[in-house]
Formats: sequence, structure tokens, C-alpha cells
Amino acid sequence: MYTKKVISRFENPKNAGSIKGANATGTVGNPACGDIMKLYLKINEETGVIENASFKTFGCAAAIASTDVACDLIKGKTIDDALKVTNKQVVDVLGELPPHKIHCSVLAEEAIESAVNDYLKKKKKKDKK
Ligand code: FES
Repeated sequence: MYTKKVISRFENPKNAGSIKGANATGTVGNPACGDIMKLYLKINEETGVIENASFKTFGCAAAIASTDVACDLIKGKTIDDALKVTNKQVVDVLGELPPHKIHCSVLAEEAIESAVNDYLKKKKKKDKK
């Protein structure tokens, strides 16, 4: 049902946990399945580059694997480029997901958007001061 890559990411995620000094977080959930993802970002405030990304996901194997891959895909990217990362790219890295698990990768895409928006909101507030 799951590819080897999904199982390996689920069993040994590279980016699990929180980041000390994270300056953005994004939490999203899917009310239908009850899964929740929280993304932590450390963004360089001068360059806008995501220096580090990690996650805590309470959910299925596909959700955990998807968030782990999403972290890899956005690390080293500017926030603008991170917003261009799609759930399809996440699925491509994983090989494939069963059709009823595609929404798990969509949730990862939404988590990126949520964390970047959190950063932009905080930055706007800071810039106003
Ligand atoms: S079953 Fe809903 S995120 Fe995986």
C-alpha cells in the first residue's frame, strides 16, 4: 500500500521535532481524519532563506512522511520559492501515495503556506515598530 520511501520516512524521519529559535510556525489540520501538522521554520531575516525546517505531525504514516519531505524541499529556499512547493512534488519524492492519502500531501503544502504566512505576519508587525 505504501512505497518503501513512505515507510522509511515514516519510520526514520529526518526532520522530526521542533527547532530552537524557530521564527515561524504553521499548524494545519484536516477535520475529516483528525491529523494535525505543525511546521517550524528558521528563516534568515536578511535574505528570506529558510535555513532550517522541522515538524511535529500527529497523524498517519503518509502525513508524517509528507511533512518530512516538505521540510527537505523548502530548506535552503527563499520563502517565495517555498510557497511554490506543491503537494505533487512531495508525492514525487515519495514515489506515490494511495489516492485516499493524497490529502496528506496537500496538508503538507498547506503547512508550508501557514508557516510562511506566520513569518510574514510577524515581520509586518515588527517592521511597523
Ligand atoms: S489520513 Fe489525513 S493526513 Fe493522513
